[in-house]
Amino acid sequence: MKVVDTVAAMRDARRQAKGTVGLVPTMGYLHEGHLTLVRWARRQTEVVVVSIFVNPTQFGPNEDFDRYPRDPQRDLALLEREGTDIVFMPLASEMYPQGFSSWVDVEGITDRLEGVFRPGHFRGVATVVAKLFNIVEPHRAYFGEKDAQQLRVIQKMVADLNMNLEIVPVPTVREADGLAMSSRNAYLNPQERQSALALYKSLTLAQGLYAQGERDAETIRRRMIQLIEKEPGAKIDYVSLADPDTLEELDRIEGPALASLAVRIGTTRLIDNMMLGGGN
Ligand code: PAF
Repeated sequence: MKVVDTVAAMRDARRQAKGTVGLVPTMGYLHEGHLTLVRWARRQTEVVVVSIFVNPTQFGPNEDFDRYPRDPQRDLALLEREGTDIVFMPLASEMYPQGFSSWVDVEGITDRLEGVFRPGHFRGVATVVAKLFNIVEPHRAYFGEKDAQQLRVIQKMVADLNMNLEIVPVPTVREADGLAMSSRNAYLNPQERQSALALYKSLTLAQGLYAQGERDAETIRRRMIQLIEKEPGAKIDYVSLADPDTLEELDRIEGPALASLAVRIGTTRLIDNMMLGGGN
C-alpha cells in the first residue's frame, strides 16, 4: 500500500496505476461504513485509492472541525487489511494553497435540508470532491447513502459539469441495533448512544406507516417528530419527507419519498435517512 501526501505524488502513483481506478473519499476515523465502500471499490475496480482529508471548507465556524475524531495510524492499518492500493492523505495547505479562490456551487438542492442548517457546507464538499476527482482521475467513486443529500449533490455536479466517472451509491451500514454508522457516533456517551436510536426508530416508524398505506406526508412527519421528542436530550433540526430527486418537501406521497432527518443528541448532530417505496 502506497501512502502519499502531495498532489504531485498522487498524480505520479495514478500514472503508474494499471486498469480501472476506484476512489473512496473519506475524512478518516474509519468505521465499517467506510470499509464497506472500500470493499465495493475492491470488487469493482483494479486499483483502489482512498483519500483521508478532514476538509476544513465544509465545516461552519461553530462546527466540529477541531474536535473531529482523527486516528491516521489506525486508519492506515485498516486500509492495508482491506487491500487498498493507494492512500492519499494531503495536508490542508496542499489542497488549499495560499491564494486559493475557486469554488464549485451546486445550486438548488443545496438550499434545502442540510443546506439550511449548514450554510456553505455543500460548497466545501463539492469543491473538495471535484478537486479529488481531478487529482485522482478515478473511473468510479464510492459514496454512502447515509449522506443522501451529499450523494445527490455530487451526482448533480458530475452530470452538470460532464465529469467523466461513475458515482456508485453504497447502502448505509448500521450497528446491530440500527444506528447508522458515523464517525460522529464516537462523541456519544452511553446515555446519548441510547437516545441516538430515536433516528432509526423514527425512520422505521415512517416506513411502517407507509407500508400500512399512509400517504399523507404531514401525518408521517408528525408521528416521527413525536417519537423523537420523547427522547431526553434530542433536538430536531429537521424531519423531512421529500422528493428523492429534487429534495422538495412533499404533501402527499405519490411515488417514492426520501425520509430524512437531522437530530442533535446533546452536542452531537446526527443525520440518517430511508426510502419510502422504491430503492435509494
Ligand atoms: O462524506 C464525507 O466523509 C465527506 O463529506 C467527503 C465526501 C469525504 C468530502 O470531504
